[in-house]
Amino acid sequence: MIEIVDFAKTYGRFRAVRGLSLQIERGEVYGFIGPNGAGKTTTIRFLATLLEPTRGRATINGFDVVRETNEVRRSIGFMPDSYGVYNGMRVWEFLDFFGLAYGIPRGRRQTLIDDVLSLVDLSEKRDDFVNALSRGMKQRLCLARTLIHDPPVLILDEPASGLDPRARVEIKEILRELASMGKTILISSHILTELADTCSSVAIMERGELVASGSIEKILAQVAANRTASIRVLLEHERAFRWLEAQHDLSEVTREGDRIRFGFTGSDERMAALVSQLAQRGHQPVWIEEHKPSLETAFLTMTKGKLQ
Ligand SMILES: Nc1ncnc2c1ncn2[C@@H]1O[C@H](COP(=O)(O)OP(=O)(O)O)[C@@H](O)[C@H]1O
Ligand SMILES: [Mg+2]
Repeated sequence: MIEIVDFAKTYGRFRAVRGLSLQIERGEVYGFIGPNGAGKTTTIRFLATLLEPTRGRATINGFDVVRETNEVRRSIGFMPDSYGVYNGMRVWEFLDFFGLAYGIPRGRRQTLIDDVLSLVDLSEKRDDFVNALSRGMKQRLCLARTLIHDPPVLILDEPASGLDPRARVEIKEILRELASMGKTILISSHILTELADTCSSVAIMERGELVASGSIEKILAQVAANRTASIRVLLEHERAFRWLEAQHDLSEVTREGDRIRFGFTGSDERMAALVSQLAQRGHQPVWIEEHKPSLETAFLTMTKGKLQ
């Protein structure tokens, strides 16, 4: 549904995106993740037909984002990372304005406005002023605006940023509902965990380059492969530490008092053998702890280029 081939964007001599290729299937909720400055907004603005690429091409719904901008704009609902304030406009007027911009006839606009307001749970705010809404409500209203022409593709630039936890949950619920309606959704965030339970796939960007991409399951498997463990021993900590350090299948072995920590990718049997050998060597192991990195840690590791 969305295909990006070798997209690059240079601002002056600064290379913001350096040859990005991605393919997003119909019906996917695709997370576009990366820390600030990774190139997410640049890529999204290119897809939204608002930015000329230095190199590369992309198609959405079969239309070329550079040559067929009108068809692309009709195919997408785009929510930018910041929006203006519409002083003195009521909620329904705001939506009516955008409906008109899309050339939707008046009678049909009324029905559509009611539909999208109910979808984002703002029906009761229909006649309220936009600037009197809470931040979460404004964000939902912007989401409603992207839906007014019933596009098959939604492109949302950090729609949950700056929202409190409750408002984030509400946005996620709406996204799930939209996904169940068959929309293809590209959504960016600088927080991986924010999207992990909503997305089917993710792409992780760092400094203009793709670091990892694939199904959430695949990313989680990479996370599991990067676990660490710590063992506490009662006797001769330093000797136990040196012995563990000499084991070729352990990595980054460190000691803090009686606690020895190390990277471990082996089997449970191997861990059991290590513990029993420590016991045989007289160290009296008393406590073992497994640390599976959180998605957040994995994200930080990946964006430092250690994982791929
Ligand atoms: N118009 C611009 N002129 C110069 N540099 C820009 C411009 N827009 C973005 N950048 C730079 O490109 C990099 C990527 O920005 P952006 O795409 O906004 O990243 P993200 O959305 O992932 O935070 C950043 O270092 C940013 O400062
Ligand atoms: Mg951005």
